[in-house]
Amino acid sequence: MIKHAVIPAAGFGTRFLPATKAQPKEMLPIIDKPTIQFVIEEAVNSGIRDILIITGRGKRSIEDHFDKSYELEEYLKKKGETRLLEEIEKISSLASIHYVRQKEQRGLGDAVMCAKEHVRSEPFALLLGDTIVESKVPLTRQLTDKYSKYKGSIIAVEEVEEENIQKYGIVKGKKIASDTYEIESLVEKPAPSAAPSNLGIIGRYVLTPEIFDALKKAPEGKGGEIQLTDAMNLLCKNQRMYASTFEGERFDIGNRLDYAKAFLKMGIARKDIGSELEEYAKKLVK
Ligand code: UTP
Repeated sequence: MIKHAVIPAAGFGTRFLPATKAQPKEMLPIIDKPTIQFVIEEAVNSGIRDILIITGRGKRSIEDHFDKSYELEEYLKKKGETRLLEEIEKISSLASIHYVRQKEQRGLGDAVMCAKEHVRSEPFALLLGDTIVESKVPLTRQLTDKYSKYKGSIIAVEEVEEENIQKYGIVKGKKIASDTYEIESLVEKPAPSAAPSNLGIIGRYVLTPEIFDALKKAPEGKGGEIQLTDAMNLLCKNQRMYASTFEGERFDIGNRLDYAKAFLKMGIARKDIGSELEEYAKKLVK
């Protein structure tokens, strides 16, 4: 059973400047719910109760968001509108949320390394704090189920367009089931001509604790950055690792078009504003 979820949220979010100059990308809302709340809900709905968020400078509002807010609660109670806070309180009570700071933004691999003392020798789920996945069965649940079946690290992938290959970590694997590959190697952001496939890593993983040794051995890239993909490439030489396509739609909130799509799709799916928004979208298209 997977008990821990690790959520890196310490990056600069430069692709989303200026919005991310003074606020974390992970706090960008889809209508009225911050991105990272969707991510935590996915972990909780996958049966995980222990959550570690990797934060950094300028990310205080993430901690505040999941903290109790006595003054606001009192105020809303007086107005008889406690329902608004119930959702967040529910999460805080369902999961125990911990924080650790990444001192310097040295890449996703370095951020994951910050989780070592917390998860120790247990496997863990890793969910990028800027990526939302809409699916019937939470994607992390799909992965933890497969982890139990295959007994090895497993990462979610999707087929990406050729022109986008160089934005992703790419997996080379042998197909062992309609939606599962045994990984042979991984490469970070290859040129499309050098890419071993079009299977891109999208930000959901279940990893064995041996990833921490691999991260120590991974080569440093530009600006001392440590790539998780490089570490996973070392790990797959020593233990079986798997990649899985999945049912659902993924939104990278650090990408402007994805953010706009998420807003529209999730807005239309809402009971309160959905039908009006859909009407408006149709009118715009006409
Ligand atoms: P990204 O590479 O998408 O985030 O990392 P970034 O570096 O913040 O974004 P850009 O490219 O500058 O726009 C995916 C996730 O990993 C976290 C980010 O916060 C994001 O949620 N991350 C990234 C860290 O926690 N630490 C890092 O050093 C880098």
